Amino acid sequence: MTFMNHIGYILSEIGRAGRNSDGSYTRGCYSPAYFDGLDIVERQMEELGMEVSRDAAGNILGVLPGKDKKLGSIIMGSHLDTVPSGGLFDGAYGVAGGLEVIRRMKEEGKTLNHSLELYGFNGEESNPLGGTFGSRAVAGLVEPGQPGLSEALKTYGHTVLDILNCKRNLSDAKCYLELHIEQGDHLFNDEMEIGVVSGIVGIVRYKVMAVGHSNHAGTTMMQKRRDALTAMAKLIVQADAKCREIDNALVLTVGTIRCWPGSENVIPGRVECIFEMRHMDKDMTDRLIDEIRNIAAKIDTVEFEITKQIDEESVKCDEHLIKVIGRAAAELEMKHIIMPSGAGHDANPMAHCLPVGMIFVPSKDGLSHCKEEWTEEKELENGVDVLYKTIELLDEEV
Ligand code: GLV
Ligand code: MN
Ligand code: MN
Repeated sequence: MTFMNHIGYILSEIGRAGRNSDGSYTRGCYSPAYFDGLDIVERQMEELGMEVSRDAAGNILGVLPGKDKKLGSIIMGSHLDTVPSGGLFDGAYGVAGGLEVIRRMKEEGKTLNHSLELYGFNGEESNPLGGTFGSRAVAGLVEPGQPGLSEALKTYGHTVLDILNCKRNLSDAKCYLELHIEQGDHLFNDEMEIGVVSGIVGIVRYKVMAVGHSNHAGTTMMQKRRDALTAMAKLIVQADAKCREIDNALVLTVGTIRCWPGSENVIPGRVECIFEMRHMDKDMTDRLIDEIRNIAAKIDTVEFEITKQIDEESVKCDEHLIKVIGRAAAELEMKHIIMPSGAGHDANPMAHCLPVGMIFVPSKDGLSHCKEEWTEEKELENGVDVLYKTIELLDEEV
């Protein structure tokens, strides 16, 4: 793939890190490919004259000082990690878009009143430390007592204290802006150019363990079995049906499964899955997990153990930023709508510390978290134009 414009070029440079032979990208949290991506971004930030630093959470930060040191920074950012075999755009576009905004400003000889900062965050995708890891570290939202945190960090050469020290005081910063692909099909289907994000869904994950009994696959008759895998399958199918009943905007995904002992001729004795559910309204995910517990209680061949793993509450984007982004899109005569995000983003943890705004561009056929993820280069450019204009408008505010 060859892009003709600057934003496409920056994005494809980042895509030199973690590119797989099938055309997908894998830059896992703290992986060598992730750090290759960081090196590429660091060089680009330096070429633009930014002050660059990294932290123990694996984040990179570039700062372009503004004229008035008393004004809080306008912070841009997104993530540089990917899901396994993901696409080029998820996360990397927001970082590339920030670099492109700064490149244009330099080209135009423009210096803002506010300092402009750009984050490339680590570990936004699901990972052993929990999603949005890098931005949670910066926002001071990493819980030191999180189960398994210390052991997982040790494998990356860090301690919990290293991560707690990544917390930054963001109270003086003006705002956080994130440019991202939509990852759904609303903009694409409605032929809209820009999505102004109103809020980001909450994500709740439960670890569900089915405990049955392993036994011989040939000698144990069907009515005697305590098969943890068939019990888990029943739970998943019934939970899926219940989710559809509760609300159209409620989603449930069971994307991982581990089975013990994992042998063709042994009845599975233990099976573990992660049940992930999302909605803007916490009552909806609470209701679904209650229903799942009820269903589990009726499956009597096994015991189910259900424990909460993460609970990231939904957040609203800042009303003023929604207006300014909408105004920027209108001034640029771009077709835009206000819409919620069904995907999680680094803007979620950041919203706990400062006003956040998000700009979406269309995803072809609504595909994401796969190698077919695609956004046309004109659409990539549109997003950068709106981000640039938004920053100009914000910079003029006293
Ligand atoms: C991140 O992309 C998520 O929504 O899981
Ligand atoms: Mn993302
Ligand atoms: Mn993602």
